[in-house]
Amino acid sequence: MNILQINSSARTWSNGQGSQSTRLANELVEGLLAAHADAARTLRDLTSSPHPALDEATLGALFTPAEHRTPEQQARVAQDDALIAELQAADVIVLGVPMVNFGITSQLKNWFDAVARARVTFAYTDKGPVGLLTGKKVYAVLTRGGVHRDQPTDTQVPYLRTMLGFLGMKDVEFIYAEGLSMGPDAEARALESARAEIARIAEAVAA
Ligand SMILES: Cc1cc2nc3c(=O)[nH]c(=O)nc-3n(C[C@H](O)[C@H](O)[C@H](O)COP(=O)(O)O)c2cc1C
Repeated sequence: MNILQINSSARTWSNGQGSQSTRLANELVEGLLAAHADAARTLRDLTSSPHPALDEATLGALFTPAEHRTPEQQARVAQDDALIAELQAADVIVLGVPMVNFGITSQLKNWFDAVARARVTFAYTDKGPVGLLTGKKVYAVLTRGGVHRDQPTDTQVPYLRTMLGFLGMKDVEFIYAEGLSMGPDAEARALESARAEIARIAEAVAA
């Protein structure tokens, strides 16, 4: 079982501080690894190595036929190819998803912009779009300073369902850690409830 962990916070988790989404995503992956003897983790750390944005030069590279690309264009497309190959090889994807200004981080958006590629990860047919990344399980660990679950302010869950589903990944489970900026008690409760969910997932996978 190949587990692909994507860290997308603007900050790292190190020395017991920093990114709560990375901290909880680490814990979830460790739970899955402990539950599955044959599991292995691939880490795509967009915090330490942010992926470049989809800009005009990138679009130019992508829309230039491979045999006509300049060395710079080849290098830029190869960066996206690497992310796509990791995703294709994954059976399970664990996304660390911080809320920043009511949305996902630009780090995670750039990742989606890199992996959504026509005829490779999705295709348009006469019946509409078809996602080509099927048979995968996705866990998204959501960390928020406030509380947004099932509210109009939660733009992340609808976006993630739409985007992942468009690429063929419809089996998505969300783990919430909310109220992290609402004082120490609320933070402790948020982490406790996320950890209970993580333990439940690891147990279910082991069963
Ligand atoms: C620049 C910035 C913007 C934020 N925007 C929001 C927001 O719109 N809604 C919210 O509930 N929390 C917001 N937060 C709080 C974060 O969601 C919270 O700190 C969470 O732990 C971030 O995940 P991370 O620890 O993995 O970086 C924001 C934090 C920062 C630093």
